[in-house]
Amino acid sequence: MSRELSPEAQKEFDWLVTRYPQREAAMLPTLRLIEREFGCIDPEGMKLCAQLIGCSPAKVFGVVTFYTHYKRETDGENVVYVCGTLPCALRGSDALADYLCDRVGIGLGETTEDRKITIKKVECLALCDQAPVCQVEDVDWLRVSKEKADEMLESLGIPKRETAGAAAGGEEKRS
Ligand code: FES
Repeated sequence: MSRELSPEAQKEFDWLVTRYPQREAAMLPTLRLIEREFGCIDPEGMKLCAQLIGCSPAKVFGVVTFYTHYKRETDGENVVYVCGTLPCALRGSDALADYLCDRVGIGLGETTEDRKITIKKVECLALCDQAPVCQVEDVDWLRVSKEKADEMLESLGIPKRETAGAAAGGEEKRS
């Protein structure tokens, strides 16, 4: 049996699709709705999206795989998105991503063994003046230092490390 939206989600979709001149233009918010409804975007979710907006599943696949911001079926329970675009990169997002990966013992793009956390590099999260930026489950973490990264991981159940040091990004010292 093919997947269906709940009556509430269907109602939301019926409303959102009226806000676009063509159904296909509603693809991104429809994917977000499906992601919220089913916890991720998997092949069945892509088919459902295609069916709802009236395009081919291949077109939806192309969009989903272009954007890194959608939660995939292979992702862990929580996904930590680390912005890797230039302003954040200049403010230390590479070091920040390394620090986060080191803290949870995985590589970038990987998921912890208990499937609790995935860490991914993404493109601009549209908060460039607050670089470096991370996002976890729709919560934005701004000007993320190592201390803030620890706080962020603590909110995901990873206990703080005693030796957390100075800021990973943004607080570059000049001599
Ligand atoms: Fe990181 Fe825009 S460059 S939020």
